[in-house]
Amino acid sequence: MRPKKILFVLGTRPETIKLAPLIKALMQTDNFQPLVCATGQHKEMLAQALKFFQIKPQFNLKIMRRNQTLSGLTARLLVKLDKVLNKSRPDCLVVQGDTTTALVGALSGYYHQIPVAHIEAGLRSGDKHAPYPEEINRVLISRLADYHFAPTKAAAANLKKEGVTKNVLVSGNTVLDALFWSLRKIKENPRIYEKYFSFLDQNKKIILVTGHRRENFGRQFENICLALKDLARRNKDVQIVYPVHLNPQVQKPVFKILKNIPNIHLLKPLAYPYLLWLLDKCYLVLTDSGGLQEEAPSLGKPVLVLRKVTERLEGLKAGGAKLVGTDWKNIVRQTEKLLTDQKVYKKMSGAGNPYGDGRAALKIIQCLKKARI
Ligand code: UD1
Repeated sequence: MRPKKILFVLGTRPETIKLAPLIKALMQTDNFQPLVCATGQHKEMLAQALKFFQIKPQFNLKIMRRNQTLSGLTARLLVKLDKVLNKSRPDCLVVQGDTTTALVGALSGYYHQIPVAHIEAGLRSGDKHAPYPEEINRVLISRLADYHFAPTKAAAANLKKEGVTKNVLVSGNTVLDALFWSLRKIKENPRIYEKYFSFLDQNKKIILVTGHRRENFGRQFENICLALKDLARRNKDVQIVYPVHLNPQVQKPVFKILKNIPNIHLLKPLAYPYLLWLLDKCYLVLTDSGGLQEEAPSLGKPVLVLRKVTERLEGLKAGGAKLVGTDWKNIVRQTEKLLTDQKVYKKMSGAGNPYGDGRAALKIIQCLKKARI
């Protein structure tokens, strides 16, 4: 029997990180032939991630524009994916998460009547404006998909509430497969990273910061930056390390408010293993990213989430993450509590990881082997 063609449609850094374990594991089997279509929703950040995981896409759509709009991106992508699907005729199309690439990938698969598998299905914040537009993207993908790989039981329960009960598997999140694989790679040659980060002061605690959510753009993003400035001024024994997302809506306020502050390091976006190295070395994390909420607990790092709602409730319940919003004073207060109160710090840092065990890709493959694709 010929191997089944599985087409992965991915476009941003987190999709690549979370799909890489599955793509790499499928390459080792005789039953499947994985194909990769990189939409290029991101340019630099996607290329970095593909390179690290040694994934060479068969299709490269290069659709990113500076300051792209959601509508423009969606329209360009839908037309270009049509050609890819006509050419590749896959047996199954895989998308991950909730980006524009994932939504349009799922829609194209449906139009072509190709079974669609959704990795990281069932995450819900319950607020259609936060994260925007991701909450609606994932709701729509669940309507379009045929196979739903939920990272946790709570995610599967969300699907059930919406009437999605067929072909749902709780697999754990593939982000942990990627994390454990990458940590092993980093340990093979730690000097590269020590050298790259040699500008850091060994005697100062590191606060790792990332931020890129659309619903935070404008005033709320400025509040976050002002909080960071305040934290740096009040706590000379810490260094804030902030790899800045390439979105101009992020770059502008961050560089305006935070440049030239001695204990704040604004960096270019880091390739995945560099970010993991930093995560391992840091004291705590301030972020609006979903992936970091899932990764940090495995390394015992408390996460303060710079958002009003999160779909990752498991981390809040376990105690490793706390929702702090975008209020300047609250961010400063909560961060300083972790810097000064060892009891609070230890409780958060020892909470454990509720998102998976690093074997999600294997579980997904077992299911795909039995699937009618
Ligand atoms: C997108 C996803 C978001 C995901 C994030 C990960 C959507 C709607 N949003 O948000 O869910 O968490 O990616 O990073 O799909 N840019 C570059 N080079 C790059 C990447 C981005 O210059 O390599 C700039 C471009 O100006 C681009 C802008 O960033 O217009 C925004 O990119 P876009 O993919 O539209 O949104 P993100 O905020 O990155």
